[in-house]
Amino acid sequence: MFLRDVTGRTRRNEERRAEEAVSRVLAETERGEDLIAPIMAALGENLRWVHGGFWEYDERRGVLCSDRVWRAPDLDAPELDRMVREDFVFGPEDPNPRFSLWTGAWSSREVRWAPVSQEGPEGRLAREAGIRHAIAIPVQSGERMLGLLVFASRRGEPPQEERLQALRSIADLIGQVVERRNAELEAERMKNDFFALVSHELRTPLTSIVGYLDIVREEEAGEINDEQRRFLGVIDRNARRLQRLVGDLLFVAQVEAGTLALKSGEFDLGEVAGNAVDAARPRAEKQGVELRSDADSVTMVGDGDRLGQLVDNLVSNAIKFTPANGAVTVRLRGDGEEATLEVSDTGMGISSEDQAHLFNRFYRTDDAEKLAIPGIGLGLSICKAIVDGHGGSIAIESEEGAGTTFRVRLPVGGAPPGNGQPAGNGVRQVARR
Ligand SMILES: Nc1ncnc2c1ncn2[C@@H]1O[C@H](COP(=O)(O)OP(=O)(O)OP(=O)(O)O)[C@@H](O)[C@H]1O
Ligand SMILES: [Mg+2]
Repeated sequence: MFLRDVTGRTRRNEERRAEEAVSRVLAETERGEDLIAPIMAALGENLRWVHGGFWEYDERRGVLCSDRVWRAPDLDAPELDRMVREDFVFGPEDPNPRFSLWTGAWSSREVRWAPVSQEGPEGRLAREAGIRHAIAIPVQSGERMLGLLVFASRRGEPPQEERLQALRSIADLIGQVVERRNAELEAERMKNDFFALVSHELRTPLTSIVGYLDIVREEEAGEINDEQRRFLGVIDRNARRLQRLVGDLLFVAQVEAGTLALKSGEFDLGEVAGNAVDAARPRAEKQGVELRSDADSVTMVGDGDRLGQLVDNLVSNAIKFTPANGAVTVRLRGDGEEATLEVSDTGMGISSEDQAHLFNRFYRTDDAEKLAIPGIGLGLSICKAIVDGHGGSIAIESEEGAGTTFRVRLPVGGAPPGNGQPAGNGVRQVARR
């Protein structure tokens, strides 16, 4: 009596631990497809099972099969693994009684158990591993069956109702999380596909528009009068604005998809910064903002074009968010290991609440919106991706009403190994974050 009581309590502890372990996996694993292996381990280890597999429905072949097996550390059974992978492949309605545990659980969507036969060649494997019974747990996403987790147990007595009940609630929990995860992944994928589609489809015609505009403006297709030149200038400015926007969207889509590649060459960051400042000068003058540059020559390895884009974005922000009579200063220093680029302004500043979100795409402060300062909120998210890709860091210092400094630190020798994978020929793939 006493013995049975203790056993019952141990079991309930096992179930509680299994439930906790599965919840932890569900909370900590980021991507839906990575869930099954740690879930199998969490269940197997805590419920003292010896062997398990995840049978998924292979739509193309119309069969249930298991590529993934879990094995208790003390079980060495390569033949059992092989049998699970190769022999236990069958249709969900296969009438063979050998598969009835699986097909029964699949069609009823219920947790099922069955004693494991100790006869014949399969029985020999079961005997050697000490396997006495098996349990099948359906894994669903909403109404859709994703697969079956099937585990083998060494216990002689059948599983108790409490255990089956615990497994049902674990299966429900897995199903809910998987469904939510899948929906999130799908929404994310659609958003990225949309980005990429829009960017590509807009970029090609825009390139052609800008190209032909150049031909007409340079009078290669005949003379144009002053008024036509003025109008064509407006068209050109707007087409280039669209081009920049499409470029930004494409950049973000590539970062999201993990396909953005950074070049890796040697260049002078001081020159890159100088060019960006020169390009911004007309805008600063137009706005009555003084633009100062104090850039040392700093040789570094990285993607010069992208770093040019980084300085462009920071300088254009600084000018944009600084009222007339203010000043913007670009400063660059190198100490042989690190380059430090600072873009400071005497503009409106950014509250600490806003600072926390600035690098999110499409984030703009209320002030930027209220004052109708143009932009869509991609510039800083792009800056962050470029800096990350170079193994650097970006920080903000700002006081509302007094001004802002963006400080970028970059290793001059290029991104350290492990920061993105080299994608052949000096091109570095930027990892998704
Ligand atoms: N120097 C700055 N001073 C004050 N606010 C700034 C400054 N730089 C950025 N911000 C705030 O951060 C927001 C995000 O900047 P970000 O560069 O990402 O977008 P944007 O400039 O609005 O649009 P885009 O760069 O896509 O044209 C801005 O809308 C603005 O609210
Ligand atoms: Mg910007």
